Amino acid sequence: MNPIKNASLKKYNTFGFDVQCSHLIEIHNETDLLELYAEDFFDNHFRVIGGGSNILLTRNYSGGILLNRLMGHWMESEDEHSIDITFGAGENWHQTVLHCVKNNWGGLENLSLIPGCVGASPIQNIGAYGIEVKDKIVSVRVFDTTSGEFVILSNEDCRFGYRDSIFKRAEYKHLIVTSVTFHLSKINHELKLNYGDIQHELKQQNVSQPTIADVSNAVIAIRRSKLPDPAVLGNSGSFFKNPVVEMDIFKAAQLKYPEIKWFPVDETHVKVAAGWLIETAGWKGFKKGNVGVHEKQALVLVHFGGGKGEEISSLAREIQTDIHDKFGIVLEFEVNIW
Ligand code: EPU
Repeated sequence: MNPIKNASLKKYNTFGFDVQCSHLIEIHNETDLLELYAEDFFDNHFRVIGGGSNILLTRNYSGGILLNRLMGHWMESEDEHSIDITFGAGENWHQTVLHCVKNNWGGLENLSLIPGCVGASPIQNIGAYGIEVKDKIVSVRVFDTTSGEFVILSNEDCRFGYRDSIFKRAEYKHLIVTSVTFHLSKINHELKLNYGDIQHELKQQNVSQPTIADVSNAVIAIRRSKLPDPAVLGNSGSFFKNPVVEMDIFKAAQLKYPEIKWFPVDETHVKVAAGWLIETAGWKGFKKGNVGVHEKQALVLVHFGGGKGEEISSLAREIQTDIHDKFGIVLEFEVNIW
């Protein structure tokens, strides 16, 4: 666990911003956490980074950064229909999905190619193409940095919502995710093909009886066509959430913009496609200094290189204000600003 003093975090955030932390420590196993606890490390400020794909670094950090590199996977239980399998929080998410697909364990295939690590998947309740990871999570093992104990939280304990869970709230920041257990099918996979582009992509690929591998490939192809690869162009996926809007506010916006894209939520709320709002407001492909709005998906803010995190946060605020002025709708950030 050799801590690195005054380390650059450039390599550890997918926007590629170059800020420093006072010390950087890689955690490779649960004993490392116990050692840090014994040294009173958690009495001081700290933050955890996994894949660094959902953070915007705007300033140097005076505390310690833990790089979650808890690896491995192991089976909890299995029968002829399904398997419960656990993956270490530091495992790469996409490689985990590919491993499941290769073994014909169904359930995560729609979540292919999402950047980041397994440990971030419950924090964010990652979702794409008609699936949210909460639908497949059995439990989440965490280290409680105040008591020095490992605790297993059930799916209900995590109180998952749209891109949300208890782990995003300040009062649970003392918990570090160490592993996640998923419930996956071995036969009779329930394929989710309803999300518009998937059917279209399968048709393009001449697939009429899709397997989970076909679905994974279709999702990979769609994501590659729309979303920038962080290894090539700095970004953090969707910067904004799709806002859940009260009916009267939505109706007022719809009156002005009848073609507004929306999804039903309940009798009094709808979810509005933030990408549509931002594109309609004219921001898609916009560039300012070293940052901009992706030309193929308006929800994604991009860093062309050599810039600062504040450029992204000020662009995000400009977009937020403009969307509010034009549509009366408040956009929330999906990305955590540090
Ligand atoms: N749209 C536009 N312009 C855009 C983007 C989208 O008009 O620039 C419209 C589309 O035409 C469509 C609707 O908005 O009618 C929804 O678009 P899309 O299917 O691309 O999905 P999204 O709502 O923009 C969400 C997730 C993505 C996920 C996709 C696919 C959020 C905040 N984003 O985007 O997740 O990949 O669905 O399921 O929920 C992420 O969270 O980082 C992320 C990339």
